[in-house]
Amino acid sequence: MTRRYQAIVPSNIAFLKYWGKADESHQWPANDSLSMTLDGLKTTTLAVKDTALTDHAVTLNGQKVTREDRRGLKIFRHLDHLATICDCAVKLAINTHNSFPTGSGIASSASGLGALTIAALAAWTESSNLDALQKNGYSRERLAQLSRQGSGSAGRSLFGGIVVWEKSSAPESQSIYPLYPQEHWPLCDVIVLFSEEEKAVSSTQAHRAAWTSPLFEPRLAGLKERRRLMEAALQARDMWRLGPLLEQEALEMHGVIMSAQPSVHYFGTETGHFLRLIREIREEEGLPVYFTIDAGPNVHLILEEKYLEKLQKILQLRCPQRQLLIDRMGPGPHLSVEA
Ligand code: DP6
Repeated sequence: MTRRYQAIVPSNIAFLKYWGKADESHQWPANDSLSMTLDGLKTTTLAVKDTALTDHAVTLNGQKVTREDRRGLKIFRHLDHLATICDCAVKLAINTHNSFPTGSGIASSASGLGALTIAALAAWTESSNLDALQKNGYSRERLAQLSRQGSGSAGRSLFGGIVVWEKSSAPESQSIYPLYPQEHWPLCDVIVLFSEEEKAVSSTQAHRAAWTSPLFEPRLAGLKERRRLMEAALQARDMWRLGPLLEQEALEMHGVIMSAQPSVHYFGTETGHFLRLIREIREEEGLPVYFTIDAGPNVHLILEEKYLEKLQKILQLRCPQRQLLIDRMGPGPHLSVEA
């Protein structure tokens, strides 16, 4: 009987960004980061053990991916790593699908590498849900650590709600843990799309250049205090305090990216004009809505759920042509099995 293991892992949006690596071979970040796990923007990955295969067979959004492809490289490297860890030689047929455009700055590697980790280990250990996977030696914390080895931000998608990834003092002592559950504060993420094309410079490449920016070390020196302020605002559920920190953080990360060598511009003038529009809307309407941007051109608007309808009406009037993806804070991953 062929059992198909299905992992569903949501994307996450970083409030405090993971940018730059202290040690790339250990996926040791240069700083702590903090994110909100999303709900509807997710990757669904099916894994099936297949003794007839001589190598893993991977399909991403309906297209075959090979070891040589840019996207395949990360996937196959991670599968090889996981196979060594669980000592499993049987090859897998992997079928993976994103609910959002891949490579558009909506962290597809976070949900993708998270879902790959869970689905592959579930298939190899024949675990039909997350509790069974834990009994087979893969606790959520361990899955998060393994996922971040595939892609740093993926580790944070292994928990729901607000999640922290701590750099700690050595690569082996990093920790990833949930700070607040989803119920703590009903927050939304309205993603405003400016491009659905795959970005020209991957975040993995751009991470490497961070150290060449004259802004990078001053940024690192200030992050402890920003994290403290963000956590206090989250605790108090105060968007007027959290919001300015979100914007400062995103703009600072892009300042580092643009001032590094090579310099990368992940967003252009259209996105820039939109950021100004959001500030106008906030002031004119008294609406607590703030932006953050990951390594891509699209804007994430963070706001409380009670203001979502009002924001949608305003955006419909002021930029009716813009496509929006609307999501909220979610509970984290899910694993199931089909015969
Ligand atoms: C801007 O996790 O994609 O989204 O570890 O090289 O795979 P790799 O990088 P990745 O970097 C994400 C950076 C970010 C900020 C964040 O999610 O914290």
